[in-house]
Amino acid sequence: MDAGISPGQSPAPQDFAQIFRLIGGYRISQALRVAVELGIPDHLAAGPRHCDDLATTTGSHAPTLYRLLRFLAGAGLLDETSPKQFALTPLGSTLRADIPASICPVVRLWLSESHWQSWSHLLHSVQTGQHAFDHAHGTGVFDYLREDAELSAIFNATMTTSSARLANALLKHYDFHGIGRIVDIGGGHGFTLTTILADHPTMQGVLFDLPDVVAGASLEAIGGTNRCEIIGGSFFETVPADADAYILKQIIHDWDDDQSLAILRNVRVQCQDMLGFC
Ligand SMILES: C[S@@+](CC[C@H](N)C(=O)[O-])C[C@H]1O[C@@H](n2cnc3c(N)ncnc32)[C@H](O)[C@@H]1O
Repeated sequence: MDAGISPGQSPAPQDFAQIFRLIGGYRISQALRVAVELGIPDHLAAGPRHCDDLATTTGSHAPTLYRLLRFLAGAGLLDETSPKQFALTPLGSTLRADIPASICPVVRLWLSESHWQSWSHLLHSVQTGQHAFDHAHGTGVFDYLREDAELSAIFNATMTTSSARLANALLKHYDFHGIGRIVDIGGGHGFTLTTILADHPTMQGVLFDLPDVVAGASLEAIGGTNRCEIIGGSFFETVPADADAYILKQIIHDWDDDQSLAILRNVRVQCQDMLGFC
């Protein structure tokens, strides 16, 4: 197989450029995070603005903000329409907080201090098989979230955003007919469950997640609690009974094999009657 470069031969300039882009990707990530934290995409939603004006609005150091905005323009998120005047590009508009299923919570979660630090421990993870997050913070991600209300809100909003993006495909490609009662295990704030219930008016639902998570659940899409019970608990202990179907969406990937088996066994126990095995 061709390794690409012969001994003594220099890499092609375009390969160098590409590898530099890959190495420096973290700079773009952080620039993007700062833009979202300062609300730059929202401040530009109504049209182009001067850098100094944006600096006043966001309480930033104007010359440094100018460098950031030019960097973001280089990344294709902004246009410098006239000197020091910036506008959103269509790509940059996707970072607005006020659009449906905004990606802002994802930016704020993935690039938060806690996640950023854990990625800097990736080498440890690869060498030991241990979780980088636990190594960086001395605790697992869900225990960490319990202690940090602001990050927890961002995490749950991220899950709602990702569920909103999948909802139509889920309803289109899975046949939920015939299910009388469905339980969403680790269902977060309930977006997926209420989307399914809204589409199936006679179905009953149970939203199950950690107590502090379900405390923030929204059942607005189905008009409240008439058709949906909310239960707080841990899927490592037990899961709600008497259901025709269980959803575990974006759950198993969070855990190692033993933990995943423990969760699935707890679901299996509740399925025994339904499936006729023990
Ligand atoms: C990656 S999120 C997925 C959320 C939701 N299913 C979705 O797809 O948007 C994992 C969920 O598992 C929940 N979770 C973590 N540990 C749990 C536990 N021991 N018992 C119940 N839920 C738990 C979290 O609170 C979170 O809502």
